[in-house]
Formats: sequence, C-alpha cells, structure tokens
Amino acid sequence: MQKIDVHTHILPRHIPDFKAKYGYGGFVTLEHHAPCKAKMLKDDGTFFREVEENCFDAQARLRDTDRTGVSRQVISTVPVMFSYWAKPHDTHDLSCHLNDHVAEVCAANPERFVGLGTVPLQHTELAIKELTRLVKELGLKGVQIGSHVGDLNLSAPELFPFFEAASDLGAAIFVHPWDMMGQERMSKYWLPWLVGMPAEVSLAICSMIFGGVFERLPNLRVAFAHGGGSFPITVGRVQHGFTSRPDLCAVDNPHGPREYLGRFFVDSLVHDPDALQYIVKLFGEDAVVLGSDYPFPLGEEEPGAMVLAHSGLSQAIKEKILYKNAVKFLGL
Ligand code: CO
Repeated sequence: MQKIDVHTHILPRHIPDFKAKYGYGGFVTLEHHAPCKAKMLKDDGTFFREVEENCFDAQARLRDTDRTGVSRQVISTVPVMFSYWAKPHDTHDLSCHLNDHVAEVCAANPERFVGLGTVPLQHTELAIKELTRLVKELGLKGVQIGSHVGDLNLSAPELFPFFEAASDLGAAIFVHPWDMMGQERMSKYWLPWLVGMPAEVSLAICSMIFGGVFERLPNLRVAFAHGGGSFPITVGRVQHGFTSRPDLCAVDNPHGPREYLGRFFVDSLVHDPDALQYIVKLFGEDAVVLGSDYPFPLGEEEPGAMVLAHSGLSQAIKEKILYKNAVKFLGL
C-alpha cells in the first residue's frame, strides 16, 4: 500500500551564518561534529538538538523510506527555523533560502518528495509574497506555519489576508506547534514537548474556528500536527463553553466548534491505537492523514505502522489515512 507521510522535517546540510549576514543573533546553525551527525546550535552556542544525516541528506532519507515503505515524504523545515521573531526582511531572506533548498530536494526526486515552504508570517505582505513565489515558481504545495506568531494567535485579523492568499493559490497549510506556551514552568521532564505542544495545537485549532477562518474561507486546506493535540479530547468542553458563554466565544464567528469537525485535517501521530480510532471517529475518515514527525524521536519509528496494524480500522479507511487523504490535503 502507498504511504504519503505529510509530517517530516528537513534542513539544508549547511545553514548560512545568518548572525553575520543580518548583524544580530538568535538563529540556528548546524555544527557537523562527527560523521553523519550534527548539532543544532543557537548562534550564542546554546545546544538545541542533535540530528543525524537523515535530517539533511536526501539519500539517507530515501534509504529510510525504502525500508519503511513510505512512497512520498512531505518535507518541511524544523519549526525552530521559522524565526518569526527576527526582522521581517531577514526572515523573508532566510525563508527564501530554506524554500529554495526544499524545492531542490523535491526537483531531484519528484516522485518521492513533496515540499512545504516557510514564510515570514510576522509580516503579512512579505509572507504572501514568498507564499506566491514558492507555489508558482518553486512548485511547492503549500507551507508549514507555527501555532502562533509572536503574540498573535491564528485568529488575528492581521493574518487573515495570508490565509485568503493561501486559499486563492490553492496552497495547503500544515500547522505545527512551536515556541510553546508556559515554558517558564516546564524546564524539567521535556514538558514543552509533552504538555506544551498538544496545548499549542489546540490553541491553533480553537483560534482558527473562533476567529472565523474556516467559515470565511471554505476552500482553504489546513492540517494540524499531532492528531490535533489536546483539542479532540476537550472538544466537548470547548463546545459547551461556546454554547454556555456565546458572549465570550461567539464574538467573531456564529457557529460552534463541532460545526467544523471534518473541515480540516489532522495527522495520525498520537501514539495510541484508541486515540487514533477516536480521532478518525471525531474528525471523520476523510480527515486524518499519515504524519510521522520523521526523523525526530517523538515520531513514529515506522510511519503508518499503527494504522496498518489497527484492528478497528477497515482496509478502505487505512488507505485513506495512509495516502488518499494526503492527496486531497496537498492538492496532488
Ligand atoms: Co514535527
């Protein structure tokens, strides 16, 4: 059976010295300190994460996907590279650099890689400019964006023209948690990844629903990472909040959250067969797409293994999750 993995991350082998180029720090660099390994460092020297060659080497990725039966990987940058905090023109330049690399990798193996770009989302006009370029000139299928942009949630009116442009261009949007909330109380136990990330995804979903983005842009194609984070298990609470306090929740959009179930995609990365079955039931069999978070340790080691082994999903539903829904999400 085919597999299209919509959630994988890639970096260029060599990241330019953005600190030198832009004249201030905070950017991520790669230090190749051992064969087939590199450290992701903030340019003040702070260690972020160790990566292996499959993060930056297309051939290593192809060996892995051959082994795990993944027909196509959707490649996008590592969220720490979004750099929405930097000066907009610098993030624009950085985004162009990353997008050109993703496009090169896709062009070299168009049957195996599909690209999602990144944009300077802190500056709507520049973000639309690069979105247009990456779709029309680079042939990427859309973008990966963060769950928030600085102090702005995805309901912000400033961001709406960007979503409108994505809808007009037919660009897919993959929403990934980043820059997690509450980190000042999460320094131990890897909590930003375990507690903050699911909360960020729920924040993004609620913001786009309550902000009326789905209502106003019925053709916009959006997928959320990590099975929708903590949204699916709290949807009853969110709906009840909307119903009981419309004065607080229904200020920008007249319909409650349940109206929009099935209106957007979520990936399958929940690491629990019961949770997988539940999100298929909640969002619908046409709304869950395979996502593995390759090549990172919180990902699914063999993409799609849980779907394939699941006793509660029919063969037809498995085919939808493993590749057919991704074809729709990406507009392939
Ligand atoms: Co990821």
